[in-house]
Parts: sequence; C-alpha cells; structure tokens
Amino acid sequence: MFNRLKDCYNTNDFRSLAKQRLPSPIFHYIDGAADDEITLKQNTRAFEKCDLIPNVLRGVKDIDTSVSLMGKKINLPLFFSPTALQRLFHYDGERAVANVAEKFGTFFGISSLATVSIEEIGENYSCPKIFQLYVHKDKGLNDSMIENCKENNFDAIAITVDTIVGGNRERDLRTGFTSPPKLNLKSFLSFATHPNWSLNYLFREKFELPQLQDYVQEGTNITISIGDYFNTMLDQNMNWDSIAEINKKWGKHLCLKGIMSVEDAMKAVDVGASAIMVSNHGGRQLDGSCSPFDQLSDIVDAVGDKIDVICDGGIRRGSHILKALSVGAKACSGGRMYLYALAAAGEAGVERAMRLLQEEIERNMKLMGCKSVKDLGRHNLKFR
Ligand SMILES: Cc1cc2nc3c(=O)[nH]c(=O)nc-3n(C[C@H](O)[C@H](O)[C@H](O)COP(=O)(O)O)c2cc1C
Repeated sequence: MFNRLKDCYNTNDFRSLAKQRLPSPIFHYIDGAADDEITLKQNTRAFEKCDLIPNVLRGVKDIDTSVSLMGKKINLPLFFSPTALQRLFHYDGERAVANVAEKFGTFFGISSLATVSIEEIGENYSCPKIFQLYVHKDKGLNDSMIENCKENNFDAIAITVDTIVGGNRERDLRTGFTSPPKLNLKSFLSFATHPNWSLNYLFREKFELPQLQDYVQEGTNITISIGDYFNTMLDQNMNWDSIAEINKKWGKHLCLKGIMSVEDAMKAVDVGASAIMVSNHGGRQLDGSCSPFDQLSDIVDAVGDKIDVICDGGIRRGSHILKALSVGAKACSGGRMYLYALAAAGEAGVERAMRLLQEEIERNMKLMGCKSVKDLGRHNLKFR
C-alpha cells in the first residue's frame, strides 16, 4: 500500500497512490481504455520486444539530453501529451503540469478540453506550448481556438486525428463517468469515501472547459460522457483538406496526433505538417490497434528525414524512451506517466514523476555509453 509521495519510485507507484486518492469514476477515466484494453497493454509491452545493447568506456560524465522539436530546443526528449479535464484529477490541474514543464524546459501540451484557458497558459508560462485541437463541427469554435493560440504565442497546434468517433470505454460506462462529474447512486459511495477530493471539487474554483464555454453548452452546464461528446460535437467529415485548411489559417508548426500508418505519415508531410505523434490515444480509441513503438521504425524510415516523429503512448520508464529514440523518434510523449502523479500529489507529484524519468534517461544514457541523444541508433537495439 502506497500512501505517501515519497514512497513512489515509478509510474505504477503513482498509479497506486492515484487510485487511493481519486473517486473511482475519475480514476478509471484516467486508467481505462477502449474495449478489452488490449492496445493499452500492448503499448507498453511493445518495448519488451527488443533489448538495449550498451557500449562502455566512453567517458560519459557530462551528457546532453536535449533535442530539438518543431523548432524548439527542449532539455529532455520527453514532453507532456495533452490530456483533458486535468482539474478533475487535482485542483491545480493544468497549472501544476505547466509549472513542471517550465522547470524541466519541455513542451506542455494543452487539450481542447482543458480546464484552464489558452489565454492563462499563454500569459503565465514561457515553456514551449502545443495546443491540441479537436476539430469540431462548429467552425467558429475551431477558428476561435486557432486565433487564441496565435494571440497567445503558442508554438504549435496538434490536431488529434484518431477521435473521429468516441472509443468504447467500458469502464466509463460502468462508473457513469461524465464531464462534469455527476452524482448518482453508482458514484455516491465513491465520492463520499473520498472527502478530500469531493470537498476540493465542491469548494474550489468551479469546473469549466474555458475553450468551449462560449460555443457549446457542454462547456460547463450539462453533463455529458466523453464518448457522446466526441460523437456529437466533432466533425466526422474531417479529412486531409480540413487539415490543409487549418494549416493555412494557423501558419506555424503543425503536428498531427494519432498517425499510425506509413501512408498517413507521408500524407502528413505532403500537407505541410512539421511533426507527427505516432499514437493510438493511449489505447482509448481503436482497441486492437498496433502500438506506436511497433509502428515507429516503418514510419521513421519513410518520413524521419522530413518531419519530426514523436512516439506517444505506453512510456512508463526511461528505457522505453531510449528504445524509441534508438529507433529514430525525435522525442517521446505521454499522458498517464504524469496524470497518475498529478492525481496523487498535484505539482509535487508531477515534478517527482518527471524527475524520476529524467534520472532514468540520464542514468541509462550513461550506462549505454551515450553522451548525447544523437549517439542512440538502431545499432543499440536487438529485436528478439
Ligand atoms: C485521461 C486522459 C485524457 C486524455 N485527453 C486527451 C485529449 O483531450 N486530447 C488528446 O488528443 N489526447 C488525449 N489523451 C491521450 C494522450 O494525449 C496520449 O495520447 C496518451 O495518454 C498516450 O498514452 P499513455 O497514457 O500510455 O502515455 C488523453 C489520455 C488520458 C489518459
């Protein structure tokens, strides 16, 4: 049983603490995935299909873990994937995560379904910022988010392309998870037995989705499941022309989040994207989908010299990051690796999770005989 932050040494430890601290509908919203959750498990297991081959005696006292991504130098080859509803996990939500991104000098990803506004993040944080855009049917809403990102000096927009419909997240159906959370018979006991969370939710800043509130009722007033939100609000006709149109309006770095095939990676280059996140949304959309790591080498071979390839999903250890970089990813990103920690202990939790991963990256790079991320290559890997 983990009941203190200082007992947490890895993602699983933070997960155990988050499970204790959160009412079950909220915990399962973070932890769960689609259908049988095969892809969720596969995303991490994929890293076990190969082993690292270290080199020794290379004088590794001083090493450089920085990489350059979408025109920005970041201190770590790891950043915060955009995730929704963060003030439900801890009352500091996005503010806690952005503070840690700033401390570590890496990208902060903010979701269209964030609980803090683009303006606030733009004004208060100088770390590189990427805004995740869900393309809604309401073009006025899409345009307002893009304009807001421009006015607030965001560095990049990541359009999520893997949520054309909502994934079948059965845990959310069972717990009755909605945004905002709804008290019903099923969830009552869980909220009542987590009074800290419940009091914070009731008496601190009101829950809001500021990016949406002027456009859709679901911004604040009515409760809706995330699956229903995707199915009713997002544009199921989104296609490559929609991406080209948004790229023209945006005019800065564009990333496509949720690319899994070589064919789509090549189209991303054609449409003018500067990066892709090889991702299956952490297994929350198409269960049975391939893992990002398994697709990485084919995608890097096809477009790695033209576009930044990011490996998103399944990352739980520094060694996972080293493996993805060895295959040719420019950087890695993740959601649950920091969300469990956010739920467990707010900013202190996220900072500890990131510090542990940073230490794992540095220690493992030294053990691999690598002075710089550039030293990592496929020669460092043996596939079984
Ligand atoms: C609780 C939660 C909320 C998420 N919300 C979003 C979102 O709003 N937009 C998005 O593009 N991806 C979202 N994602 C997916 C993440 O950006 C990322 O792709 C995924 O978490 C990677 O898998 P990992 O959790 O194994 O690292 C979410 C993931 C989780 C776990």
